[in-house]
Amino acid sequence: MKVLAINGSPRAGGNTEILLKKVLETLEDAGWETEYRRIGGKPVHGCRACMQCVKQKNKKCMIEGDFVNECLQAMESADAILLGSPTYFADVTAEMKALIDRAGFVALANDGMLSGKIGSAVVAFRRAGGTHVFDSINHMFQISSMIVPGSLYWNLGVALDRGDALKDEEGMENMVHLGQTIAWLGKAMANAAKETPFPLAMVELR
Ligand SMILES: Cc1cc2nc3c(=O)[nH]c(=O)nc-3n(C[C@H](O)[C@H](O)[C@H](O)COP(=O)(O)O)c2cc1C
Repeated sequence: MKVLAINGSPRAGGNTEILLKKVLETLEDAGWETEYRRIGGKPVHGCRACMQCVKQKNKKCMIEGDFVNECLQAMESADAILLGSPTYFADVTAEMKALIDRAGFVALANDGMLSGKIGSAVVAFRRAGGTHVFDSINHMFQISSMIVPGSLYWNLGVALDRGDALKDEEGMENMVHLGQTIAWLGKAMANAAKETPFPLAMVELR
């Protein structure tokens, strides 16, 4: 099985990356294939509401060449998707918001291409607003008919400077637990799918 992590932070080697990679490491130990990408820091545009994805249904955003379509392709091939973001004014970064809006809308326009996949939000924050970031990401998973596993104390790491996440022992333990939960759920879902196909939710976008 494959897990894809996409990081909305512009900071390479930063806290969100540390948290995401802990989840990936745990899943790798459980035999999963892992992929890590960073969209933070890339010149990503927001959704232009052109509705071409709804008209063309070609699994692509019409804004080409800014990494969102690459992420979308990788998302389609993954069984589990981790979207990670630092907290910026109590919300996701602008790059992560662009990915959520554009990839999320293309997926809905293409017969729910993310439905039945596992989705988990991972968030770094210094002091406040982390649960709101967690909510913002989970809204995309839940409107997409994805399966969201629970974990301990949500999936948040308390951190300010690059590397601080490593000092948040409880946060790091949560990432290991999240990885273990995803590994268990992935196996259970694969077994269930042998008997019953996932009920696809076709959405008519208005
Ligand atoms: C523009 C900006 C806004 C921020 N806003 C918040 C905030 O609202 N709440 C908070 O707890 N931390 C806030 N922070 C701190 C970051 O969330 C924190 O440093 C985080 O660990 C960065 O993760 P990264 O290393 O993955 O980029 C902000 C940082 C920046 C640069």
